[in-house]
Amino acid sequence: MSSSEFTLRLARMRDAHSIRSLQQASFYKIGSEVYTHEQIEACIRHLDTLDTRLIKDQTYYVAEAGGELVGCGGWSFRDLAVRARPRRTNGTPSRLDPYSDAAVIRAVYTHPERLRCGIGRALVTRSEKAAIEAGFRIISLAATLCGAPLYGALGYRVTKCFNVILRDGLHLPAIEMQKELGATPFAIAQEARARWEPRERESVPMDGL
Ligand SMILES: CC(C)(COP(=O)(O)OP(=O)(O)OC[C@H]1O[C@@H](n2cnc3c(N)ncnc32)[C@H](O)[C@@H]1OP(=O)(O)O)[C@@H](O)C(=O)NCCC(=O)NCCS
Repeated sequence: MSSSEFTLRLARMRDAHSIRSLQQASFYKIGSEVYTHEQIEACIRHLDTLDTRLIKDQTYYVAEAGGELVGCGGWSFRDLAVRARPRRTNGTPSRLDPYSDAAVIRAVYTHPERLRCGIGRALVTRSEKAAIEAGFRIISLAATLCGAPLYGALGYRVTKCFNVILRDGLHLPAIEMQKELGATPFAIAQEARARWEPRERESVPMDGL
């Protein structure tokens, strides 16, 4: 299947059931290459694979081919997965600041019979584009061990290896990864200004500026 044989669209609330089925089928099959059955079961039972807030925020996409769901994934401008203690406002995860925070890639899954057709790449690329349009310059994610090769191929770098604590005394080894988005000269200059700290400046001799 080539990229012209599937299409991406924003997910709708009425897709939620099909999305969860796809996510679970995908994680059971592909996850079993790196995790035990107990870890996968505990993960699906205790961490809902679909955060419906992403659908409400219009930051979650589905890939379709021949009327079938073949992939899903998206991003968030909210303080969600990667941080241990997300900031909240009235119970809702706070909006991240594009100037100083990283946007977050969320829940990318491909149907186990449609792997290596570019669906994961298309979902992540669409998400990155939307994050850039929302003003973000950095994007991060918490990857499963089976998701990491996709993100590595798309230019993400490992920033931390950690364990997601599941109930029943189990944990899931995972990887935090990050990527700089659209590093245009203007964005770099803005970032330099945002991070400017007078006390940290080094004094260097210069002939001109
Ligand atoms: C991770 C996942 C979404 C990748 O989906 P995919 O549609 O097969 O990925 P793509 O076809 O777009 O792959 C793009 C590139 O990523 C890399 N890649 C993807 N999967 C890979 C793998 N298993 N091994 C090595 N490289 C891989 C390759 O470079 C690939 O390009 P190529 O096929 O031309 O070599 C899929 O494996 C999956 O659903 N995993 C289970 C769910 C999961 O753990 N999701 C991550 C949650 S964070």
